[in-house]
Amino acid sequence: MMDPARFVSEAVEAVRAAVPEPHRALVAASGGIDSTVAAVIAHRALGTRAVALFVDTGLLRKGEAARTAEIFSEVGVPYRIVPAAPRFFSALAGILDPERKRRAIGEAFIRVFEAEAATEKADFLVQGTIAPDWIESGGSLRDTIKTHHNVGGLPATMSLKVVEPLRDLYKDEVRSVAAHLGIPRSDRQPFPGPGLAVRVAGEVSPPRVEIVREAGAIVEEEVDRGVTQGAFPRPWQYFAVLLPVQTVGVTGDSRRVGEVISVRVVTSRDAMTATFTELPYDLLRRISERITREVAGRVVRVLYDVTDKPPATIEWE
Ligand code: XMP
Repeated sequence: MMDPARFVSEAVEAVRAAVPEPHRALVAASGGIDSTVAAVIAHRALGTRAVALFVDTGLLRKGEAARTAEIFSEVGVPYRIVPAAPRFFSALAGILDPERKRRAIGEAFIRVFEAEAATEKADFLVQGTIAPDWIESGGSLRDTIKTHHNVGGLPATMSLKVVEPLRDLYKDEVRSVAAHLGIPRSDRQPFPGPGLAVRVAGEVSPPRVEIVREAGAIVEEEVDRGVTQGAFPRPWQYFAVLLPVQTVGVTGDSRRVGEVISVRVVTSRDAMTATFTELPYDLLRRISERITREVAGRVVRVLYDVTDKPPATIEWE
């Protein structure tokens, strides 16, 4: 088993060697555990020569920016929020194909970082890529399964040099390094780099993202409540997906066309395989009632995804 203290001192040295004085590095900080560990390492290695940036893509979960602010203040790493939603939505406009969406997002990220690099006079980018990210992106034995935005999605023309101090780590190793660094343990679920875009099947637009954001927050709240009450163990991931079909519903005497949400709740050890979680029916009913009642934008039908991985993936795209 890897020794976290030793890993950190070696990673700090490696980042220092990769980004020699007087060069400066941006750090892509998402608030997730991987990028937070990378940000702390970069901060220790480079001090004020490392600038952590949190990009508001417009594709974040409800409350995510605030939560990230808390984490960063707790670990004592300064960071800045970059508002970039319009850039991401215009990059995504009209795109239906999941892989093209990922590439558009990867590209928008890089353009944002290049603009910030010019402002900050930085020529390096530190990312929290870990081993499963590049393995699943076709970097090794496996075929390309999905283009993870922070690996295969990067445009070849990128002008920033990428530094990936966690490239060889697996998730449990990242967790032990995080604990060693005093990063607060969080119950946050894994969340894909391209954000809610992979949970909006079909075209990604601000109102469609808003629907999936609100529906997802309800799924989280209800499942979290069940976990807190001890009704079942915390599932690996639990979220909502907006489908690209319209369906007919009825309120009072009137039939009306509306949106369809699929609820995805899975149990897994490492995301490579997963099984759908057998949630209690009363909980599913409450989730369905709340989504159809509370989400602005007329959701008229809620489905529960009962597919394992394989043959499905965890996300819909
Ligand atoms: P799938 O959907 O392939 O997902 O079964 C496996 C795990 O990876 C997450 N995921 C991603 N993470 N960028 C990421 O950083 C991505 O593009 C991406 N796609 C999926 C997913 O949430 C699950 O935990």
